[in-house]
Amino acid sequence: MKFSTRQIHAGQHPEETTGAVITPIFQTSTYSNSKLGESKGHDYGRTINPTRTALEANLASLENGKYGFCFSSGMAAIQTLISMFSPGDHVICTDNVYGGTYRLYEQVISKQGIEFSYVDTSDSSAIINALKPNTKLIYVETPTNPMLNITDLKALNKIAAGKGILTCVDNTFMSPYFQNPLDFGIDMVVHSSTKYINGHSDVIGGCIITSNDDVAGKLKFLQNSIGSVPSPFDCWLVLRSTKTLAQRMKAHNENAVAISGRLSGEKKVGKVYYPGLKSHPQHETALSQMRGFGGIISIELGSYDAAVNFCNALKIFQIAESLGGVESLVCHPVSMTHGSVPKELREKFGLTDGLVRLSVGIEDCDDLMEDIENALAVI
Ligand SMILES: Cc1ncc(COP(=O)(O)O)c(C=O)c1O
Repeated sequence: MKFSTRQIHAGQHPEETTGAVITPIFQTSTYSNSKLGESKGHDYGRTINPTRTALEANLASLENGKYGFCFSSGMAAIQTLISMFSPGDHVICTDNVYGGTYRLYEQVISKQGIEFSYVDTSDSSAIINALKPNTKLIYVETPTNPMLNITDLKALNKIAAGKGILTCVDNTFMSPYFQNPLDFGIDMVVHSSTKYINGHSDVIGGCIITSNDDVAGKLKFLQNSIGSVPSPFDCWLVLRSTKTLAQRMKAHNENAVAISGRLSGEKKVGKVYYPGLKSHPQHETALSQMRGFGGIISIELGSYDAAVNFCNALKIFQIAESLGGVESLVCHPVSMTHGSVPKELREKFGLTDGLVRLSVGIEDCDDLMEDIENALAVI
């Protein structure tokens, strides 16, 4: 079945007692046994919940994977997957990852004896040069937040395959509609489902999808052992949202393609970062592994003051953390999402004080462009 059909039906069946078309919110922490030791396959709500099971099956299908695991946030998903590794293991990670991922790895996990190397994974030779005998995971974000750098997934798989090294891709920016890393041999996909997958800015959530039986067994154990699972209501909200994922992603993409093109000709904009532009350094790689370019555009405005004045002058784009909702948002990464990344590291990959990230929503494109032009006029 095609994506738009699976987004509505995968993992969901009419409810058995009433025929309700929509999967109910199973708001229960525990399940009754008819006799001691005789359950209906459900014992405790942290371990299993039918609303969560439906969402996990739905997301696994959309990512072309066998197993889905849902979590209370994207960070909870990342914390759970990194818990598969042990002291003495080495992880290669994209240098320009989401600031919260960098903070988790540097300030929490590295204290537990796991070693991290941060490299520009859009350059395959940089990954190869960072390999060590104890490398166990290559963790990649593509496109990256907020520089939109692209890692070649086929090349990544070639580097890791057969060496006992797992690969994981944070696919948050593309959503399963535009990119399916498992199709390129990647072992795990992680999402902040807070973003496009939910898309309505009313849920914090995360997920991991895999087709690797061994990895799935470990994740199932860790999901239950760590216990950072989403509530049944949040699972229900996300299930409601995946039903329109294709339609939302098409609208985000259409607006962002048009806006990035217009911004490229603007004198006040130093650089436009968007994988759909021919000028993007990995545009060809993007075309080879993505079916669209998404709704995130980063622009360089030259100085801290210009970036702040631009953000403050926007009227439709709201200044807010997060991205991927139907409404347009603007973020100044240095003072918001990437504040925990050291200045030297940030500047190495172009995350300057003048960089602004636009999360282009699905409003009317002319209104969004007018809002941007009015804000550029004041800087
Ligand atoms: C690419 C990416 N990955 C992971 C996360 C973390 O997700 P959450 O905020 O749902 O914990 C974010 C949050 O912004 C993100 O942008």
